[in-house]
Amino acid sequence: MKFFIDTANLAQIKEANDLGILDGVTTNPSLMAKEGIKGTEAVMQHYKTICEIVPNGDISAEVISTDFDGIIAEGKKLAAIHKNIVVKVPMIKDGIKAIKWFTDNGIKTNCTLIFSAGQAILAAKAGATYVSPFIGRIDDSGWDGVDLIAQIANIYSIQGFKTEILAASIRNALHIIKCAEAGADVCTCPLDSILGLLKHPLTDIGLAKFLEDAKKFA
Ligand code: G3P
Repeated sequence: MKFFIDTANLAQIKEANDLGILDGVTTNPSLMAKEGIKGTEAVMQHYKTICEIVPNGDISAEVISTDFDGIIAEGKKLAAIHKNIVVKVPMIKDGIKAIKWFTDNGIKTNCTLIFSAGQAILAAKAGATYVSPFIGRIDDSGWDGVDLIAQIANIYSIQGFKTEILAASIRNALHIIKCAEAGADVCTCPLDSILGLLKHPLTDIGLAKFLEDAKKFA
């Protein structure tokens, strides 16, 4: 399973990349706004900087147009920033049309705001590189987000779809583990959730004891 970081914060992207396990970055308009990025030029420059920090990973950059022509025009500009840009397109009717167009024109896509298996089938049919089911938001609504990952993984396997399942809206380390079990190809996670995977109290207790005992023969 690939690890992406879900942030537009450059320091956090660098920290995750320095771990050596990062395969890409996802952003969205809310994450960009959180970093105080304003204006088209600044947004484009920010994506370029992210691509430079993670030169070998896929970087999702989201369109904010909702009509076919607007999505295509915006997506072309985003894709021109760097070869690793993946154009992130919302799960709407014009979004599906646009994903098909991008697929036919060799531009990678991430279909975002996926909350059902039907949406994931349509996105795959249009040739999306990734689909992004929002696990945490599904859990917040009283359904089980991981169940959706397992359902999509099963359908894609039966049907032979090549679209990768990118589990998004991850809230904690357990989500990552459960998504790995359910067949996600990628998890995009906040830095805290990735670092949460490191933690176990018995590791800390065990290391303290080893270091204490090491003093006996130092
Ligand atoms: O990038 C999309 C997704 O990960 C959003 O997560 O935490 O806003 O539900 P969240």
